[in-house]
Amino acid sequence: MKVLTLLGSAKKKGNTATVLGWVEEELQAAGHNVERIYLHNKSINGCMGCAKCRDYPDDIACIQKDDAESIMEQMIASDAVLFASPLYFWGFTAQIKALIDRGYALVTNYHLPDQTSLMKGKRVGLLATGGGPFENNAEGMFTAFDRIVGFLMAKKAGELYLGGCSVPAELSADVKDKAVELARSLVV
Ligand SMILES: Cc1cc2nc3c(=O)[nH]c(=O)nc-3n(C[C@H](O)[C@H](O)[C@H](O)COP(=O)(O)O)c2cc1C
Repeated sequence: MKVLTLLGSAKKKGNTATVLGWVEEELQAAGHNVERIYLHNKSINGCMGCAKCRDYPDDIACIQKDDAESIMEQMIASDAVLFASPLYFWGFTAQIKALIDRGYALVTNYHLPDQTSLMKGKRVGLLATGGGPFENNAEGMFTAFDRIVGFLMAKKAGELYLGGCSVPAELSADVKDKAVELARSLVV
């Protein structure tokens, strides 16, 4: 399978990138074609909500010409997409949230019987790291992700929250196993 991973942390060797690396290693070892996009050095403006994209169900058709369009093209061309983000103020980082918002262009007729999506049926997963626990902290991000998956008419194929993260060297011994499990569920 062709798997696209989206790194929403600015840190190339931080907690999220480290765990994402283990997920990717497992996928590659199983013969999958994996590509990572480091969102921090991409130019992705926020969605303007102009809804011009809604006139073109078969195209991304966003009027903003920045890196979001080619990233969304890669998402559409993949079998599975893994969103990876540190938890920032109980949600996604700005880098990945901007892309999620631009995903408005991937769907037409939201909530109507004839809703369509360029991501329909794709496998998508979420990997998040945070300093605090899941409870009272990360629920909002995971609830939002479920709704984003529904919006995209995609199929959730794995999620992992790793709390209590400080520095990668201190990630607990079982984290790699959890990363492997996430990798496997993404492509089952
Ligand atoms: C601006 C900012 C906001 C954060 N907000 C939260 C938060 O709401 N909840 C939490 O558990 N951790 C929070 N953290 C901690 C990070 O999520 C955590 O250190 C994460 O593992 C960093 O990932 P990285 O090393 O991949 O960048 C925050 C960190 C920063 C810098």
